[in-house]
Amino acid sequence: MLKTDFLVIGSGLAGLSFALNAAEYGKVIIITKAAEEESNTKYAQGGIATATSFPDTDEKHVQDTLICGDGLCNEKIVRLVVEKSHERIKELISWGAEFDRTASGEFDLAREGGHSEKRVLHYKDFTGLEIERKLITKVNAHPNIEVLTHYFAIDLITQHHLGKEVKRSTPGIECYGAYILDIKTGKVKTLLSRITLMAAGGAGQVYKNTTNPVIATGDGIAMSYRAMAKVNNMEFVQFHPTALFKPGVNPSFLITEAIRGAGGILRNKAGKDFMPEYDKRASLAPRDIVARAIDSEMKKSGDEFVYLDCTGILKKTFKEHFPTILAKCKEMSINPAKDYIPVAPAAHYFCGGIVTDEHGRTSITNLYAAGECATTGLHGANRLASNSLLEALVFSNQAFQHSCKQLDKIHLKKEVPEWEPGRKVPGEMVLITQSLKELKEIMTNYVGIFRSDMRLQRAQNRTRLLYEETEELYQKWVLTPQICELRNMINIGYLIIKAAIARSENRGLHFNVDN
Ligand code: FAD
Ligand code: SIN
Repeated sequence: MLKTDFLVIGSGLAGLSFALNAAEYGKVIIITKAAEEESNTKYAQGGIATATSFPDTDEKHVQDTLICGDGLCNEKIVRLVVEKSHERIKELISWGAEFDRTASGEFDLAREGGHSEKRVLHYKDFTGLEIERKLITKVNAHPNIEVLTHYFAIDLITQHHLGKEVKRSTPGIECYGAYILDIKTGKVKTLLSRITLMAAGGAGQVYKNTTNPVIATGDGIAMSYRAMAKVNNMEFVQFHPTALFKPGVNPSFLITEAIRGAGGILRNKAGKDFMPEYDKRASLAPRDIVARAIDSEMKKSGDEFVYLDCTGILKKTFKEHFPTILAKCKEMSINPAKDYIPVAPAAHYFCGGIVTDEHGRTSITNLYAAGECATTGLHGANRLASNSLLEALVFSNQAFQHSCKQLDKIHLKKEVPEWEPGRKVPGEMVLITQSLKELKEIMTNYVGIFRSDMRLQRAQNRTRLLYEETEELYQKWVLTPQICELRNMINIGYLIIKAAIARSENRGLHFNVDN
C-alpha cells in the first residue's frame, strides 16, 4: 500500500503545475500511464492566451471568451481566469518556460480564431513541448515529488470500496485515493491519499480522426463518473478545423490556427476562399463555425479535405514561426510557399468533463479536478483558442490554494481493502481492437460535427451493445491498460451521446440538423 498527502493523476500542465506548488506543503505522488512527458500538453502548438499590452485588455479577452462560449460560459469564472492569467503566466516563466519575444523584448503575440486582438504567447509552434519539458525538469528536481510512470489509474477509492452503497444522489461521497495498475508487472496497488487531483486530460481518441495522442482516452472523466462525480457539457466536443489530411494516421498532425492568424486562407478544392460566405470573420471565425463550414464544403463536393493556402505568408516568417509544421510539410513533399496544404477537421478538445467549482473542487470530497478533464464554466459551449492551457494553469492553482488549507483536517483512510482481482483469464486483443474500431466509427459517423436525431439514436443503440460486451470482458479478463481504456472510452461515448440527445437546441459545438 502506497501513501501520500497529494495524489496527482496525470503529468500534463495541470498535474505538473499543481504538484510544484503542493510539494511545498506535503508529499506528492504523480502517476502517469505513459512516459513522463506524454500528454496533450506536449503537442500544444498555438500557445497560451492572455492580454499583455495595448490595445488589448482583459475585458476584450473576457468578451471574446463569452462570445465563443455561445451563452453557456460562467462569466464569474471567465473573469477569474482572465484576471489570474497574468500572475500564473509569470509563475510559469519563473519555472523556466520561455515565450518568443520581439527585438524590443515584448512578447511576440499571435492571433487565433475568435480573438479580437493578438494575444497568444507562444514558443515557435511547439509551445506545449517547451512548457512540458521545463516543468518536468523542475518536478524531477523536487525532493517532495515522486513520479510513477507507466502506472494506470483504474478507479478512485470511495466508500463504495468499503462495502457501502454509493449512488449518484448519496451525499458526502469521499475520495481516499486510487487503485493503480503497474503496467510493467500487471500488479494493482492501493494508493491512499489525503487529497487527489484528477488531471488526466481529454478524450479525443474516441473519434477516428483526432489531434490528441493515444493517451487521450477520457480515463479521468470515466473513473470520476464511475465514482459518482458530477459530469456535464459532454456534448461539446471541439473539432479543430485544420488537421493535416493524411488518412490512417493516428493522431492527426495539427496545423495551428496561428497560421490563419498569420495570413493562411482556407480554400475549397476548386480554389475558392469560401469562409466569407459563412462568417464575416472568415478564416478567423471561432472554431465551431469554421469546422462546420469545412464539413459543409466537403459534403457538397464529396471531397475528403479542403486546402490551407499559406502562399501569402513570407517564407522567413513561416520558417521562424512554424518550424515543426514546415518540417512536416517537407516530409510530405509539400512546399507551403507554393503548394496548398490539405486539411480536414479532427476531434481536438473536450469542453465538458468533471464539474468543478471555482476552487477546482468536484462533487466528491477531497477530489479536485483541473485541466481538460474538468469543466469549470470557462468554455461554455465552445472553447476560445489557447484558453485551455490557461485554464489548466489557473485551475490547478485554484485547486492547490484550496486543498493545501484542508490538508491538516484530512486523515488517510485506514480500512481501505487491497484490490480484489477475482479469478481472471487472459484476454484476446482482437476483441479489444475491434470494439475500439467500432466505437470510433460510431462516434465519427453519428456523433461528429453534424448530428441528427436518427444518428444519435443509432449511436446509442450500438454503444449499448459494446458496453454490455465490454463489461462482461472486464469482469472476466486479466486487467490490462487496453481493456481499461476501452471501457473508459465506451463510457465517454455514452456520456457524449446522452448529453447530445438531451440538448434540444443548437449551441456552440453541438449541432443537430433536427433541432
Ligand atoms: P494532458 O496534458 O493531456 O495530460 C494528461 C495526463 O494524464 C497525461 O500525462 C496522461 O498520460 C495522464 N493519464 C491519462 N489517463 C491516465 C490514467 N488512467 N492513469 C494515469 N495517467 C493517466 N491548448 C491551448 O490552450 N493552446 C494550444 O496551442 C493548444 N494546442 C493543442 C494542440 C494539440 C495537438 C492538442 C492535442 C491540444 C492542444 N491544446 C491547446 C489543448 C491543450 O493542450 C490541452 O487541453 C491541455 O494541454 C490539457 O492539459 P492537461 O494537463 O489537462 O492534460
Ligand atoms: C492551435 O494551435 O491551433 C491549437 C490551439 C488550441 O487548441 O487552443
